[in-house]
Amino acid sequence: MKRIGMLTSGGDCQSLNATMRGVVKGLNVLEGNVEIYGFIDGYKGLIYGNYKRLTSQDFSGILTTGGTILGTSRQPFKLMRTPDENGLDKVEAMKATYRYLDLDCLVILGGNGSQKTANLLREEGLNIVSLPKTIDNDLWGTDMTFGFQSAVDIATQTIDRIHTTAASHNRVFIVELMGHKVGWVTLHAGIAGGADIILIPEIPYDLRHVIEAIKRRNEHGKQFTILAVAEGAISKEDAQLSKKQYKAKLAKRKYSTVGYELASQIEKATGQEVRVTIPGHTQRGGSPVPFDRVISSRLGVAAAELIAKEDYGKLLIMKGYDVTTLPLEKTAGKLKYVSPDDQIVLQAKHLGISFGD
Ligand code: F6P
Repeated sequence: MKRIGMLTSGGDCQSLNATMRGVVKGLNVLEGNVEIYGFIDGYKGLIYGNYKRLTSQDFSGILTTGGTILGTSRQPFKLMRTPDENGLDKVEAMKATYRYLDLDCLVILGGNGSQKTANLLREEGLNIVSLPKTIDNDLWGTDMTFGFQSAVDIATQTIDRIHTTAASHNRVFIVELMGHKVGWVTLHAGIAGGADIILIPEIPYDLRHVIEAIKRRNEHGKQFTILAVAEGAISKEDAQLSKKQYKAKLAKRKYSTVGYELASQIEKATGQEVRVTIPGHTQRGGSPVPFDRVISSRLGVAAAELIAKEDYGKLLIMKGYDVTTLPLEKTAGKLKYVSPDDQIVLQAKHLGISFGD
């Protein structure tokens, strides 16, 4: 009988539970009897031996629930090799927990940083199966991560609701969306919500072009404008700075986020009232949309298939609408960015959406 460890790591998202349910349901069908150990709060549970034995019952009724039944935490990869405050070697501690429980495999649901640690554990000789979690959709190698579609859904609903109030008041609205260093959520929600301007980190904006786009709308009789702005959006000017210079500039910035900074600049340049809406962590909350439930169930089952074949060291990925795998060492640590030449960007431009470039 196989003994399987499981953990969810990094920022939570919708569909973590659906994915774990898929793994366990798949194992029940393919392997019959298995022992499942869930580590509490991500890698922290593995480091400090905090786990619980789970039964199929624990995975019942969680297809639609948000968050993670195991809890999660951020354990930065760059600190994994640094001993904790009591001098504990975290990597050795994780290996010791794995060996103590005599695990056959560890299933890791995580984003970019978590995948790097997953790969480190693979290098240290542990059997790993990884699953691509993040609302940001920024894992290199997979066309889609679970959580992304649900986040896009919430971000789109926010833009939809802003539309009516923006039009009633003739205001400029900035909807600032999550995505860390990438613009996937903003790009998709911006198109889905009918935003007029989309600003993402991968396409640095020129403030003058943003202002021009707003004025053009006014000239065409549209007195309101909606901007979907990624939290990591950056101006052309700032994109020229070194990382250090940009950090120093951010530290001195009067405004807490790019959305508020832009609001002040646009207000000054156009004289129009500007408001900022930030849905923030609501984008990660609540029930997954059906599409996420489907890919999560399929990715979960595919993880069970790998375990049944004892085919370890892989990240499950989506290629188009198919589930397949990539070796962890090939994917871990690489981010997937929007390219200015992506078809979706060009088509958005042909819809009349300005990227301020
Ligand atoms: O990676 C997911 C994400 O929601 C990013 O979009 C965002 O920048 C970050 O996590 C927020 O992190 P935290 O939940 O730690 O504030």
